[in-house]
Amino acid sequence: MQSLTKAATPSGRSALSGLVGNTPLLRVSEPLAPAGRGFWAKLEGFNPGGIKDRPGLHMVERARARGDLRPGGRIIESTSGTLGLGLALAGMVYGHPVTLVTDPGLELSMTRLLTAYGAQVNVVSEPHPTGGWQQARRERVQRLLEQHPGSWCPDQYSNPDNVAAYTPLALELAAEMGHIDVLVCSVGTGGHSAGVSRVLRQLYPELTVVGVDTTGSTIFGQPARPRLMRGLGSSIYPRNVAYENLTEVHWVAAHEAVWTCRQLAASHYATGGWSVGAVALVAGWLARTTPADARIVAIFPDGPQRYLGTVYDDDYCAAHGLLDSPPAPEPDLIGRPDEKEVTRWTRCTTVVDPLTLHGTGDAAVESDAAEEGR
Ligand SMILES: Cc1ncc(COP(=O)(O)O)c(C=O)c1O
Repeated sequence: MQSLTKAATPSGRSALSGLVGNTPLLRVSEPLAPAGRGFWAKLEGFNPGGIKDRPGLHMVERARARGDLRPGGRIIESTSGTLGLGLALAGMVYGHPVTLVTDPGLELSMTRLLTAYGAQVNVVSEPHPTGGWQQARRERVQRLLEQHPGSWCPDQYSNPDNVAAYTPLALELAAEMGHIDVLVCSVGTGGHSAGVSRVLRQLYPELTVVGVDTTGSTIFGQPARPRLMRGLGSSIYPRNVAYENLTEVHWVAAHEAVWTCRQLAASHYATGGWSVGAVALVAGWLARTTPADARIVAIFPDGPQRYLGTVYDDDYCAAHGLLDSPPAPEPDLIGRPDEKEVTRWTRCTTVVDPLTLHGTGDAAVESDAAEEGR
């Protein structure tokens, strides 16, 4: 089926944006699930830049349509990950210069790639004394917006177009699968879990939606800690997370994601980053523990390129103690997201917005210096 991303593409530029969407589905089974059971993985790594090509194009297209972004205006965003690639693509498709504010944690390979795609990569050198790298980056974005009249920041954490961008992905899944019982998504800004679940719930009201976060992330009410895993997780409270749509949340630790990534690579020729490993671990468990005929879909956000020096690097993994033990066969279970600090694979079937738990009104508060990955 045609993706809406393609339908929204201006004529003459469809060659580039036409590469986005209609990604393949892979059936994943043993050893992550028992024989005869498994889940379908939507391989968003087959988009030219990964899953964020979709919101990169859509947010820019909508901002242009509203007049928030004028022809030729500069796009400025804080990102150390996949959205940078999506915005570089959107800048090329729609004719906008792109500045990406990042920190020294950005992999050299990503800096090179983003630069090759024509983006200016602007690196902050010092963390904010209390707000960490993310706050330092946010302040730099603010300064750059003031310096460049007519520039625009997509603000992926609270921009509803980051959610709406995933309607085509949901429709692709519905067309391919016919019926879906369980959806498994990693959560960073909340964009794809909110956007895909919103549409699929309308089609399949009984849908179970499982969110996957990293240990040390604040999104679901755990305390912020320095984190190795990038992409999923956050040290702020992104407003795009659709807490009300999520049936349960799982927190996964880095060594558990690494183990799963390597199992997946060795058994299915499927590779990706931290979020792929975490999502596959949870989806495999669901395939073991839900009825055999349940149709389970997991979203794999990207491919392996950024992770050759981390997830797939024995020296890196050994230095960080990531090869010491496989994940337990079952997650721990807690009754409330703030019941205790979790450090290994754990699930909770109570999902609430932490801002309603703690009563703080600042959605963008930075809890520590943990780095973001998107
Ligand atoms: C590799 C990867 N996985 C997962 C996510 C989380 O997706 P979302 O921001 O839509 O919640 C991101 C976000 O950038 C990502 O880059």
